[in-house]
Amino acid sequence: MSKLAILQYPDERLHTIAQPVEQIDDQIHKLVRDMAQTMYAADGIGLAATQVDVHLRIILVDVSEKGNQLLVLINPEVIKMGGKAEFEEGCLSVPEVYETVNRAAWIRLRALDLDGKPFELQADGLKAMCIQHELDHLQGMVFVEHLSPLNQKRILNTLKKQDRTRSKVR
Ligand code: NI
Repeated sequence: MSKLAILQYPDERLHTIAQPVEQIDDQIHKLVRDMAQTMYAADGIGLAATQVDVHLRIILVDVSEKGNQLLVLINPEVIKMGGKAEFEEGCLSVPEVYETVNRAAWIRLRALDLDGKPFELQADGLKAMCIQHELDHLQGMVFVEHLSPLNQKRILNTLKKQDRTRSKVR
């Protein structure tokens, strides 16, 4: 297993639209293992392949307290979503930024598991939020892009300052 580099917003590659996985082979299994290691090492609750610069429709989610309930969704498709919920979200590609985003309260989807078997899943609460956040990544969208242009500008400025502080430390 190896830890992968996570693209950092506003990296243009985060705007790539992911393609469906055609064959779930050893390479995909290895990618999922590496993504899981990367997500857990960064204390994340979700990771989309887009974030490690692989533009395939694969997302990982684990919202369990112990981090031992990994959900792997390959070629996820939304069947239905509804209700309204607000969550304060963060993202491994946008360090130290937490913002409230409006989401659907529940989501029902269809996906393939690691054996290529189709399954359906219904989620609400934190899990539903996390899945919607990761699905956005597959469409080339980062959560802060749900905010107003003014707020996005403010966040970009904050990130630039973080960068400067880091280079001083180095
Ligand atoms: Ni994210």
